[in-house]
Amino acid sequence: MSNNYWEDVYLNKDSEQVSWYQTQDNRTIEHLKFHNIVADAQIIDVGSGASLLIDQLIEAGYVHLHVLDLSATALAQTQNRLEQKQLDRSHIQWIVGDIAQAPLPKNYFDVWHDRAVFHFMQSDLQKQSYLHQLKASLKNDALLLMSTFAENGPEKCSGLPVQRYSIELLQNTLGVAFQLQQHEHAIHLTPWNSKQNFLHSVWRYSPE
Ligand SMILES: C[S@@+](CC[C@H](N)C(=O)[O-])C[C@H]1O[C@@H](n2cnc3c(N)ncnc32)[C@H](O)[C@@H]1O
Repeated sequence: MSNNYWEDVYLNKDSEQVSWYQTQDNRTIEHLKFHNIVADAQIIDVGSGASLLIDQLIEAGYVHLHVLDLSATALAQTQNRLEQKQLDRSHIQWIVGDIAQAPLPKNYFDVWHDRAVFHFMQSDLQKQSYLHQLKASLKNDALLLMSTFAENGPEKCSGLPVQRYSIELLQNTLGVAFQLQQHEHAIHLTPWNSKQNFLHSVWRYSPE
């Protein structure tokens, strides 16, 4: 994959016409409420792209948001959209970078959200780098919300091969420091109405 792969995707495609587009992510907001995540929690959305989740997080009252993606264009699209909606962007940290390498604060985040990003980590090295970042930057008892393609999901996402996960494989991959809170299988409909089987999961980080 070239370094510009994702930048080209966002430069050349309408963000509402990519397979992963969704108009809302109520599941994530409900999980945050259920787990009593307070308004001043530090929340990071990795591989956020131009996702509308950020709009919903702001509308739900969350202020300390961190938005990370390889594509500067995707983040600019989110920034423009928030401006048009006159949503408060003043506390948002924007990070253009690779989640496997980007400098992140240590022992810092209360919530890490990943929808359809970890499943691109194919090699052991990529997975270990991602997990190192994840563990180093989460506070103890932080929540991890992770959505990947399920074991019966597509073999590719945006033309790239992905690792599909059962809940057992994901638990084995994350390790015992992550304790499963909830999981469910759900179908995502692409803008052209094809079905993608996702595995949505919520984990508590308890390293001791
Ligand atoms: C399938 S899209 C999902 C976007 C968003 N999470 C959502 O649910 O709408 C994958 C996103 O991950 C980003 N991405 C892929 N590999 C990445 C990496 N190594 N580091 C940071 N972002 C990455 C891409 O630029 C893209 O925006």
